[in-house]
Amino acid sequence: MNKITIAIDGFSSTGKSTVAKQLAKHLGYVYVDSGAMYRAVTFYAMQNGLINKDDFNVEGLIYQLPKINISFTFNESLGFAEVYLNGINIEKEIRKLEVSSFVSKVAAIPEVRQQQVKLQQKLGDSKGVVMDGRDIGTVVFPKAELKLFMTASAETRAQRRYDELIERGDDVTFKDVLKNVQERDYLDSNRKDSPLIKADDAIEIDNSNMSLEEQFNKILQLVTMTIEDLE
Ligand code: CDP
Ligand code: CDP
Repeated sequence: MNKITIAIDGFSSTGKSTVAKQLAKHLGYVYVDSGAMYRAVTFYAMQNGLINKDDFNVEGLIYQLPKINISFTFNESLGFAEVYLNGINIEKEIRKLEVSSFVSKVAAIPEVRQQQVKLQQKLGDSKGVVMDGRDIGTVVFPKAELKLFMTASAETRAQRRYDELIERGDDVTFKDVLKNVQERDYLDSNRKDSPLIKADDAIEIDNSNMSLEEQFNKILQLVTMTIEDLE
């Protein structure tokens, strides 16, 4: 069977990574969470004093980019690859709201994007990959055989993310999570370099009222059709 590249873009908390992991498991593909890479760079900047409250040393981060080594290692029990920064597992730390509150500013820096896109293209160069993010279908893999663009209302998405953070034991309010989701929607969609936009050939899926199962079945159908068309 032909292996394809599946690019999943869209707004925060639209279920991209959930469906990407399900697809990768079902198809025996590699899943790459490109957002985790921008979160890892943000975490590095925070740990190294380059981000302090609202003070962001952009030049300092650009200078230190060669020191940032991001990798993924598959975790058998979780069923997906966790992200490592310079050899240390930072999967849990990067999901915190503090990282979310700065990541869109870090991801808007062209030098950061150049470095991460190169790595993303390397990770997906042999097909059989599902990658989710903001610019996968437009910039990273413009020739992907299947491109999806996921949307849902901001309130629905914030509620999903809030529930997740509370379940993990994080001390957050719904109001702060909603504010973060809306701020990132704006920054990600309006930056100069690789803004979040739907690729012309992407299929849009609004899952505001779709369960995880419905979403997976619908997308699997699209994958099957795409592979059949190639054979
Ligand atoms: O999980 P969630 O949708 O909240 O975010 P994420 O996928 O972990 O991405 C975090 C942030 O990284 C986004 O808000 C973007 O600012 C940035 N990002 C990006 O610029 N390009 C990508 N391909 C992936 C993420
Ligand atoms: O990767 P992205 O930020 O787009 O979203 P996610 O991390 O896959 O999903 C965020 C949360 O929304 C997870 O807890 C999902 O289980 C939930 N979700 C849902 O309940 N129903 C959907 N149709 C999609 C996501």
